[in-house]
Amino acid sequence: MLSYDRSIVETLEADRPKIPVGLLSRDEKDRLIERGFLALYRWYVDRSQALRNWNPDRDVLWKKIRQDHNYEVNKILEGFFAVEQYVPDYVESIVDLIRKSHGRSHFQIRWGSEESKHADLWHNAVLFSRFRSPEWLRNYMGELRSNTWKLPWEGDPIRMIFYTVFQERATQINYLGMGVIAKGQSKVEQFKDSADPVLVQACKLIAIDEAAHYNFFLEGARLFLYYYPAQALEAMHDVIKYFSMPAGALIPDYNEFSTIVHKAGIYGPREHSRDVIQKALDNLGMASKRLLEEGIRKTRLVPDEDGNLRQTAIFPGLDFQHIEDAVKRMFDRTGKYEAEIGFDEIDPVEFKPAY
Ligand SMILES: [Fe+2]
Ligand SMILES: [Fe+2]
Repeated sequence: MLSYDRSIVETLEADRPKIPVGLLSRDEKDRLIERGFLALYRWYVDRSQALRNWNPDRDVLWKKIRQDHNYEVNKILEGFFAVEQYVPDYVESIVDLIRKSHGRSHFQIRWGSEESKHADLWHNAVLFSRFRSPEWLRNYMGELRSNTWKLPWEGDPIRMIFYTVFQERATQINYLGMGVIAKGQSKVEQFKDSADPVLVQACKLIAIDEAAHYNFFLEGARLFLYYYPAQALEAMHDVIKYFSMPAGALIPDYNEFSTIVHKAGIYGPREHSRDVIQKALDNLGMASKRLLEEGIRKTRLVPDEDGNLRQTAIFPGLDFQHIEDAVKRMFDRTGKYEAEIGFDEIDPVEFKPAY
């Protein structure tokens, strides 16, 4: 047996309470996660059809959009258009990754149909604002689509769900920021005269969708965080560390676009860390990025009573009760929907504590 300083273990043990020991088998946890996703998907589709069934042609008065927007506003619209052009790749690669999961894969298809409306909405915005000719836009679209978006985390469904949490939130922040400019409320000199009620409507429709997407992925990420906390926290940490916006590397003039959105006060490092990372961490029960990093480091360093180094579960900053409460609420809410249909009599969705 290795000799070691017992006080180190004692200190670490005292530090340990954040994640208790699990009670459920792997199979049971996987079943609960899968059943949770299915319920969440059903609940989501119901709401999506009832509340967000908008049309990118009819629900925005495109004929009335301003045709005298400045270069920067036009470049922002063009950038939004470009990012949403990779919808076929987003759908194909993610569905391929999670095709065995009923709830997750069907959701992703549904999500793709909503994202395709976003691509069409920005296409209309660019076309009707007359900054570019239809011919130019067709060529640009062809150029964009000659590249294929690839998953930032190949073969890794847990990292991908965390990626989509941060990505949806970031997209929402972008559209909300554009909405502020379109309302004529920007504090940046260049954008003070950019008010455009047509763009206000466009940004509003799309930002509400992005919020719903964020919420779905957030609920899904919490399922992993609750039933597989160590793996989920490591995934969350990696995703934050290496995060970049989708397709940034594929869009030819992306640097100019990101400089403009930064200067416009829409999205830059400050918004990224405050409105995206910290906001998502709050929703995931994690106090801060710093504590997450510290937790990840500690998991790899703890010796057990025999002096063997082993993975443990010390996560300073993780509010585990917050996660459990949120997961319970999700099961409760989606279970009520399922009971309205009658699923509860055949195959009820039920929360089971993991600890
Ligand atoms: Fe979108
Ligand atoms: Fe989205």
